[in-house]
Amino acid sequence: MRHIRFISLIATCLCIAASGLVALPAIAGSTEADVEAVTKEFQTYCAPCHGREGRGDGAVGAGLDARPADLTQITKHNGGTFPFEAVYAKVEGIDNMKAHRSSEMPVWGFWFVTQEVGDSTSLADAKPAEDRARRRILAIVTFLKTIQEK
Ligand code: HEC
Repeated sequence: MRHIRFISLIATCLCIAASGLVALPAIAGSTEADVEAVTKEFQTYCAPCHGREGRGDGAVGAGLDARPADLTQITKHNGGTFPFEAVYAKVEGIDNMKAHRSSEMPVWGFWFVTQEVGDSTSLADAKPAEDRARRRILAIVTFLKTIQEK
């Protein structure tokens, strides 16, 4: 009797572990709540320049020297495949900073980490904040992938 209970306990654990694995890709934006959250991020941080639908026609963008890109054309401009890593790097923007290159596109990697760290002065909070910032950028880039025109 006792080891039947033990076996069913193990089975439950395996089930939880497996469903955890299945749930992983959802982080990138496939549950309804995630889609809503990432859409909100886009409307808050990207739409002012890139426009509500990402077509490069935001009100703030109109006043810039460099025209914000039409974010629905990235795949088209890249021979039909969405260059996930390059887009991630562009949004994160750290490479631009290191190279002392200037761009009117904000450095979101820096901004999101700053936001996630908040008022904390503890070094222990730095890494988790960086991870949360990275997840936000990943979700945004995954979202951009979904708005590509073929
Ligand atoms: C202050 C205006 C501004 C905001 C806000 C802004 N961008 Fe940009 N973005 C630009 C400009 C200008 C360019 C074109 C020049 C360049 O590539 O640096 C650009 C280019 C890009 C590109 C490159 C597109 C391509 O075809 O190569 C991506 C990707 C991008 N932005 C994503 C985003 C995302 C995601 C957000 C929100 C988190 C965002 N941008 C917010 C101004 C902005």
